[in-house]
Amino acid sequence: MSTTEDRSAGSGMSAEELVDEARHWWETDIIDIRPGEIALRGYPIEQLIGRVGFVDTIWLMLRGELPSRAEVTLLEAALVASVDHGPQAPSIAIARMATTCGVPVNGAMASAINVLDDIHGGPGQQCMELYLEIDAALEQGQGLDEAVGLALQRRRDAGVTYIPGFGHRFHPLDPRTPRLLSLVDAAAAEGTVSGRFATIGRAVEAAIGAAKPRPIPMNVDGVTAVIYCELGFTPELGRGVFILARSVGILAHASEQMVQGGRIKGPLPKSIGYTYTGPARRSVPETGDERRSTS
Ligand SMILES: CC(C)(COP(=O)(O)OP(=O)(O)OC[C@H]1O[C@@H](n2cnc3c(N)ncnc32)[C@H](O)[C@@H]1OP(=O)(O)O)[C@@H](O)C(=O)NCCC(=O)NCCS
Repeated sequence: MSTTEDRSAGSGMSAEELVDEARHWWETDIIDIRPGEIALRGYPIEQLIGRVGFVDTIWLMLRGELPSRAEVTLLEAALVASVDHGPQAPSIAIARMATTCGVPVNGAMASAINVLDDIHGGPGQQCMELYLEIDAALEQGQGLDEAVGLALQRRRDAGVTYIPGFGHRFHPLDPRTPRLLSLVDAAAAEGTVSGRFATIGRAVEAAIGAAKPRPIPMNVDGVTAVIYCELGFTPELGRGVFILARSVGILAHASEQMVQGGRIKGPLPKSIGYTYTGPARRSVPETGDERRSTS
């Protein structure tokens, strides 16, 4: 059996150096755990428990410091707005379908979260990148309309036809948007946030709509992107906190479906067909020579 000395000899390091390397293998500013002690970002867990809310803790974990009350109010509003959009939202439908396939709650949640990518649930990240790009142009002295126009043009040039954070399948006007924007406006009036990303978001909405016969309103991803930018989150964290919020709805639906039961539910009842667009019925050729090569 090999000893620590043998292994350290093999790696060319002394035993002390090997242990030191192992100690630094994982480095984190987030949590300090010792026997009988747990501290998040330096705060003893027993002081956080019962005194600090879950949203404060999300902020502490992601940003390193405890947020102000006003910051929590705004972040919490964005999280509440994002928890659910019903069984026709693909993420929710997937959680429910997975459950009826016998997948346990962790698998149902993971399956659902997997689709929260660039198009569904995740566009907030790209929308934040758009807002931040416009904000950087404003910092350099460009006018708002020019900065918005150029940023949208860059996306059109790159083949992007759908600007993330705008438009909605169901809602001509997303009911979450005006309410959340009003909270951002109030927070800006109180000096909690600058309000400049709300201005940018509204300008993007106006610019997209100007090119179309009907408005393309800011959706929940677009308005929560405003909030996450106002609060100083990075785009990746913006997507991550949206996923945290939507996970609540995903869990609720998976759990409800488990109680309701049901086996192998597809996206629609079997009485409702789908549209087949392939070849009409035909006979399989008798010989291989009669088969037409498609390669
Ligand atoms: C959500 C979404 C899929 C809904 O699409 P939809 O209502 O089915 O819209 P359609 O594909 O029928 O498009 C209708 C018109 O609006 C335009 N449009 C819709 N969303 C647009 C957007 N985000 N940016 C620019 N134009 C958009 C389409 O180009 C189309 O214009 P046209 O008639 O000139 O061709 C779409 O708006 C989208 O992909 N948005 C970006 C992604 C996003 O934010 N997703 C989160 C949704 S909560």
